[in-house]
Amino acid sequence: MDARNDMLRLLQSRKPGYSLEQPFYTDPDYFKLDMELIWYRDWLFIGHDCELPKPGSYITVQIGDYPVVLVRDQKGTINAFHNSCRHRGSRVCNAEKGMAAKLVCPYHQWTYELDGRLLFARQMADSFDKTQFGLKPVACESVGGYIFICLANDPADFAPMRAMIEPYLLPHRLSEAKVAFESTIVEKGNWKLVWENNRECYHCAGNHPELCKTFPEAPTVTGVQGADSDPEMLAHWAKCEAAGLPSRFRIDPAGQYRATRAPLLRDAVSYTMNGKRAVATKWLVHKDAVEGVDYDLAELTHVWTETNDQDRRIVEENALGILSPAYEPGPYSELHEGGVIQFVEWYASFIGPRLAEGGRPALRSVA
Ligand code: FES
Ligand SMILES: [Fe+2]
Repeated sequence: MDARNDMLRLLQSRKPGYSLEQPFYTDPDYFKLDMELIWYRDWLFIGHDCELPKPGSYITVQIGDYPVVLVRDQKGTINAFHNSCRHRGSRVCNAEKGMAAKLVCPYHQWTYELDGRLLFARQMADSFDKTQFGLKPVACESVGGYIFICLANDPADFAPMRAMIEPYLLPHRLSEAKVAFESTIVEKGNWKLVWENNRECYHCAGNHPELCKTFPEAPTVTGVQGADSDPEMLAHWAKCEAAGLPSRFRIDPAGQYRATRAPLLRDAVSYTMNGKRAVATKWLVHKDAVEGVDYDLAELTHVWTETNDQDRRIVEENALGILSPAYEPGPYSELHEGGVIQFVEWYASFIGPRLAEGGRPALRSVA
């Protein structure tokens, strides 16, 4: 049976509230289907506006088989393009990031404007029509300082997501930020294990001593249920909303995206060892902030470099254990792992119908 039908059969027979069957985490053919049916079709968070500070600033990313370049043009708009030259397909930009007045392909120097138009292709036939060979665009949206792209030719409408998350993001003025520090790690495990790990804090007390100084492990903070009746969460949101910050937990009905404002423990104001102010998440600081004066880089980054490395080890151990022929799906904790249950339900509800479409014979019998 081919992977497509096999995957559909396992999704239809899966036990709700349990982790997925082994091939969802280990099988290269399932991974290809995940890429094709989820990663190449849905909106993906790629980076921040402030990583492209000026016209000509660009960053490159690789999404599965697709090299993509994001570049700020002369008008200040951020555009995304397939990073594949319209001559013979070479990558046009090969650095992770940089500045360029024009995008020049290194192979035969076809030269593109920052808005993707082909400006120059030397010694081509007189009949050559430059207007037909611009870089192929990729759908790109910027909201509250966050950049999202979608590789699909017919991307889902971005407007509802913008409407939900923009009010949460705008107060942080992230377009006025800069990246103080950046760290990239590779986790040797299927992407769904990384996601599952991220959706719960059941593992926090046993694995993240630094994070636990400021982050509450209460399931209402990371889960998707129960927060509406947790007096501490309600008090936190009321306080934030009184200060003009939209804060309550909101989730798209289909589970595609969500927004909330999570509290920290006691009087902590940041995810740092001492709980004092730094700048949270991807270590963005105000663009005028000076290292050593306005922030201490070690204090800023320690908790999350440690936490990310701890999570990398957790995910890799999870992946190794799942490879065992003795592995079978296990039950999630309803109290702590509501976010994981929601993620797996989201995954099944999106990939299932997409597996069933696509011109292939549908599954004949359902378990
Ligand atoms: S492949 Fe880009 S100029 Fe030839
Ligand atoms: Fe973790």
